[in-house]
Amino acid sequence: MNGIKILGTGSYTPEFTADNDKFSEILDTSDEWIFPRTGIKQRHIATDVPNYYMGTQAALKALENAGVSPEAVELIIVSTCTPDFFYPAMSCLIQKKIGAKNAACFDVNSACTGFITSLDIAQKYLACGKYKNVLIVSSEKLSQQTDYTDRASSILFGDAAGAVLLTASDKRFSSYMRAEGDEFEALYCKINYDNANCPWYGDIDKFYENRFDTDQKRNFLVQDGKAVYKFAVNAMAEAVRNAAAEENLDLSELDIVIPHQANLRIIEKATEMLGIPSEKVYTNIEHMGNVSSACIPVALDELNRAGKLHEGMTICFVGFGAGLTYGSAIVET
Ligand code: COA
Repeated sequence: MNGIKILGTGSYTPEFTADNDKFSEILDTSDEWIFPRTGIKQRHIATDVPNYYMGTQAALKALENAGVSPEAVELIIVSTCTPDFFYPAMSCLIQKKIGAKNAACFDVNSACTGFITSLDIAQKYLACGKYKNVLIVSSEKLSQQTDYTDRASSILFGDAAGAVLLTASDKRFSSYMRAEGDEFEALYCKINYDNANCPWYGDIDKFYENRFDTDQKRNFLVQDGKAVYKFAVNAMAEAVRNAAAEENLDLSELDIVIPHQANLRIIEKATEMLGIPSEKVYTNIEHMGNVSSACIPVALDELNRAGKLHEGMTICFVGFGAGLTYGSAIVET
C-alpha cells in the first residue's frame, strides 16, 4: 500500500482582502504593474486572527468533509514558516482546538514547499502502517513577515490555510524532493532575537556570509526576486519530471497539475517547458496571491468543493520555496 487516499479537504481564507488598488494607496505601484508581472489581483490578510486559528478552521472543515471524528486522527503534520510561537509546534495548538486527543504532532518547515514535504512524510507513515488517518494542515500568515514598505515583495503575499485528511491506498504515489542550501540568501526571514540577554555573546553575525544582510533585523521577508524566479522555473520542471519518472509515468497521463502559486509567469513557463497544456494547470493566484505552503491545499480544496476531484485521477503537486527547496508529488486518487 504505497498510495494515499484523500478522505477530505478544507481551507480557510480571511475575510479582509487587499487588491492591487489598496497597494497603490500605500506604495508607488499599480494594478498595471502588478497584474501582468505576477497574475495577482488580490490577497486575503488575517487582520484579527493568529495563524493557528486559520489552521484550526481548515482542519475542522477537512474532518467534516471526510466525515471522520477528531479522535480518529493519529498524526497531525502542520507545515508553516510563519508560526505564532517558536514552540510549542502549531500542530499541538491545532490538536487542542480540534480535540484530536489521540494524535502525535509535529511541524514541518520547508517554507513554500512545506505541503509537499508533509505529503511525502505522511505517505511514509501510512505506507508502513504506523498510522491510519493523517491530517496535514498548511497554515501561513505571511502578512506578519511582509515588509509593506517594499513594493517588490509585499504585493506577492497573503494569508490562508489548507488541510487534507489522508489514509493509505493501493494506488500510485511518487515524489521527488531536493534543496539548494547554497542559495538560501535568495529568500529568507531572519529571526530577530532582539531581547536575547546572554552576557557571554560575541559577534555572532560574522558567521553569516556572502549576500546575506546581517543588518536585516526586522523579522521581515527579504528576497532577490530575479534569483528566485530563475531558480523556480527549472526547479519545478526538474521536480515534475523526476517524480513522474519514479513511476514510469508519461506526463500526458497527468489529469491535473496543482503548482505552488508564487507567480503566474513562473507557472506558465515551467508547465510550457514540460509540455503540459494550460487547461490541466490549476491556478488561484489571481484571488489568493502567494500563501506559501497553503497554496496547494487551498487550491485542492477549491477543486474538491467545485466537484472536480474524482477517484482515479492523477494529480501532480509541485512547489518551491525558501531554502531553496523544491519538490513534486504525484498522487493517483
Ligand atoms: N510596482 C512598481 N514597480 C515595481 C514594483 C511594484 N510592485 N516592484 C518592483 N518594481 C520596480 C523596481 O523598483 C525596479 O525599478 P527600477 O528598474 O527603476 O529600479 C523594476 O520594477 C524592476 O524590479 P525587479 O525587482 O527587478 O522586478 P522583477 O521584474 O524581477 O519582478 C517580481 C519582481 C517580484 C514580480 C519577480 O522578480 C518575481 O515574481 N520573482 C519571484 C518571487 C517569488 O516567487 N517569491 C516567492 C517564492 S516562494
